Amino acid sequence: ARKIIIDTDPGQDDAVAILLALASPEEIEVVGITAVAGNVPLALTARNARIVCELAGRPDVPVCAGCDRPLGRPLVTAEHVHGQTGLNGPILPDPTMPLQHEHGVDFIIRTLREQAPGSVTLCPLGPLTNIAMAFVKAPDIVDRVAGVVLMGGAYFQVGNITPTAEFNIYVDPQAADIVFKSGIDITVMPLDVTHKALVTKARNDAFRALGTPVGMAVAQMTDFFERFDRKKYGSDGAPLHDPCVTAWLIRPDLFSGRRVNVEIETTSELTMGMTVADWWGVTDRVPNALFIGDMDSDGFFDLLTERLGRR
Ligand code: BDR
Ligand code: CA
Repeated sequence: ARKIIIDTDPGQDDAVAILLALASPEEIEVVGITAVAGNVPLALTARNARIVCELAGRPDVPVCAGCDRPLGRPLVTAEHVHGQTGLNGPILPDPTMPLQHEHGVDFIIRTLREQAPGSVTLCPLGPLTNIAMAFVKAPDIVDRVAGVVLMGGAYFQVGNITPTAEFNIYVDPQAADIVFKSGIDITVMPLDVTHKALVTKARNDAFRALGTPVGMAVAQMTDFFERFDRKKYGSDGAPLHDPCVTAWLIRPDLFSGRRVNVEIETTSELTMGMTVADWWGVTDRVPNALFIGDMDSDGFFDLLTERLGRR
């Protein structure tokens, strides 16, 4: 199984991404989860990450709290999408598993130094603050990272928090800039593809019909999440952004994209956090990312439903 660290700001869709990873031990070994401020403040994302581990029956997964704010800008949160707790929808018990004492950034650094070089993949599902901090604090770890598979950015689909920016990149564009310039091979799940992972009514019914605690909770999460997206984008259900990252690790054949250069806008207030992807190769900038543009959404939901039904 591929070793991963999930860096996350749960978030209903983050929760589903974590549940998919924890339900897939043949393909994925979650060595730890680091929480970051994003959808809601850090205290809540660190709490929600533990709620999700306990829902999955995995209180043994180490959960660390990382950075409570972006590198250079005030924190922007998204309660308007995710609700006050970040995980509105299901009623889930308070976590009893402990939060680790180690800071999330130090956990990332220590894990990359302890594990064999090229054996740990980073999976950021929120703003890139913790990842960038780790790279700046310990530049020696950059060469040891097997890859970064992240949810963030948008190109043809444009933005969801400003007209040109996707939320995760917008919240901490300086951090995103550091990660995209790190030289690491990055796989990007932008809004262009995640808006194809829509939980239609039939797909939500399939989660509910699993009859398991996980299936039930996921149905309730996507019910809540959907209120916003259906109203705002007129879409046929909620986009499951972050689970595209963990699905990619299990079934990369469900996705297709292009290797392109991606640069992050960090100075213009108008287009702050825009992911400028050289889709047509009109510059000589070196490709630094596989920018995913399309997916087999039926295949994705079949995979998700099968895995979530395991518990
Ligand atoms: C991203 O922002 C968050 O609201 C979601 O969890 C996802 O990671 C989508 O833009
Ligand atoms: Ca997220």
